[in-house]
Amino acid sequence: MMMNRSWYLVCLVFVSLVIVVHHASSQESISISSGIQLLPCIYHGVPFVHSEVWRVDECTTCTCDNSTTTCVVESCQPAHCTEHVKPPGECCSVCPYDVTVRKVEPTIQTKRNVTTNGDATIVLAADVTFKDAKDTSGVRGESLWELSAWIAPVNTTHRIGFTEQVLNVDQASQWYVKGNRIIFLDVVYTFVAPSLNCDEANVCVELKRGRNAVTTDGRPFNFGSDPDSSTSLIGCTSLCAGRDIFPCVDTEGIHLHEDVWQRDPCTHCTCNNGTAACSTKECPDPGCNRPVRLKGECCLSCPYHVRVRRVSPFVMAQDQIGDQVHLRVLITFHESQHTTNVTGINLWKLSAWVALDQTKTGKRYDYREQILDATQRSQQYVKGETPAFAVDLGIADTAVVCGTAFYMC
Ligand SMILES: *[C@@H]1O[C@H](CO)[C@@H](O)[C@H](O)[C@H]1NC(C)=O
Ligand SMILES: *[C@@H]1O[C@H](CO)[C@@H](O)[C@H](O)[C@H]1NC(C)=O
Ligand SMILES: *[C@@H]1O[C@H](CO)[C@@H](O)[C@H](O)[C@H]1NC(C)=O
Ligand SMILES: *[C@@H]1O[C@H](CO)[C@@H](O)[C@H](O)[C@H]1NC(C)=O
Ligand SMILES: *[C@@H]1O[C@H](CO)[C@@H](O)[C@H](O)[C@H]1NC(C)=O
Repeated sequence: MMMNRSWYLVCLVFVSLVIVVHHASSQESISISSGIQLLPCIYHGVPFVHSEVWRVDECTTCTCDNSTTTCVVESCQPAHCTEHVKPPGECCSVCPYDVTVRKVEPTIQTKRNVTTNGDATIVLAADVTFKDAKDTSGVRGESLWELSAWIAPVNTTHRIGFTEQVLNVDQASQWYVKGNRIIFLDVVYTFVAPSLNCDEANVCVELKRGRNAVTTDGRPFNFGSDPDSSTSLIGCTSLCAGRDIFPCVDTEGIHLHEDVWQRDPCTHCTCNNGTAACSTKECPDPGCNRPVRLKGECCLSCPYHVRVRRVSPFVMAQDQIGDQVHLRVLITFHESQHTTNVTGINLWKLSAWVALDQTKTGKRYDYREQILDATQRSQQYVKGETPAFAVDLGIADTAVVCGTAFYMC
């Protein structure tokens, strides 16, 4: 390998020299040095020509630039899952697609008549809900799902008319977005009608991972169920349940009959046999000048509103022990009809300093940005009250304290 490289390099230098010589002889103005200015690199004893790019390992790529080797090491984002996989040849490991099914519920959308040769067709909707765990991801790809259907006579374990896959290509390739559910709609299931009354049989479906599932970016696709596959991946409904009841389909997706959902923060809808019945909430007047809309809220609300009138610090003579000052600060608020209570964390900041005179703009000694502790910072304000803060302050410069006159601001 090294031998070959050296030969290659020697040959290359030779070729470039030949070209230069050739150029030089035909066009006398070209300098003979121009072709050999860009030098090769030696990396771990192996030569590389100028501008060559090579991979040292899966994360490191080097380039040669006129005898200088520059290597770039790719850094990886941490993969936030318990079990990561490293695609071959890739530097970083990724989380596999991880999908856990909680429930599969079939409903009979429509029943069609049994034909003369005994075939019966029912059109199913299958509503799949997923577990939203930490490792759960969405999944994108093709042939992701397989839905099997059969007729199960009650009180037996027989499966009549078992069909491995009742989804069409588009349905089987439906993407799943974490937090959502999947509704397979208009799933056509045809079977030979058994000689049973509808109250003697159920129609059942079972969801599986598509056996030829291909994810869009080639990541593995883990498919599981919670609690266990026999209860969460299989759903049945009575054959008598066949009703002409339609889901509601609009731009936001599919909602089954009797589903309730929120179209926007102010609008709740219910699906009633194909028609969405929506009601819009009326909002009361917020009663303030500059109301705000909080995320996810329908109605405007008033921001907390307080205005401070005066900050009055007191240092009690008897409170001063050595270089400790016990400070009480009384806050007076300006009350108006807009004034509100305030609750929250880190609401207040009280700065303190020592001044040699009473001007508020004069030189500040021993300035402290925040003298309140965590509890005081988050102290609730109740409208009409006059809160006070009590703070023990150590005075750093006792010479200042003992001077002729001092003020605490
Ligand atoms: C390449 O490197 C050599 C040696 O450091 C230097 O003399 C020359 O000018 C460089 N050429 C270019 C094009 O930077
Ligand atoms: C089913 O068959 C009955 C009797 O032949 C007929 O009246 C009815 O219209 C048929 N229904 C459908 C949906 O084809
Ligand atoms: C199924 O079993 C239950 C309880 O054992 C019984 O009441 C019911 O009649 C049975 N149904 C059929 C269709 O056999
Ligand atoms: C649902 O709507 C369809 C068509 O609009 C109608 O034929 C059917 O009878 C309705 N079902 C119920 C249970 O109201
Ligand atoms: C402010 O808080 C006090 C005490 O928690 C409460 O009694 C009062 O109703 C509140 N006022 C408003 C406008 O929320």
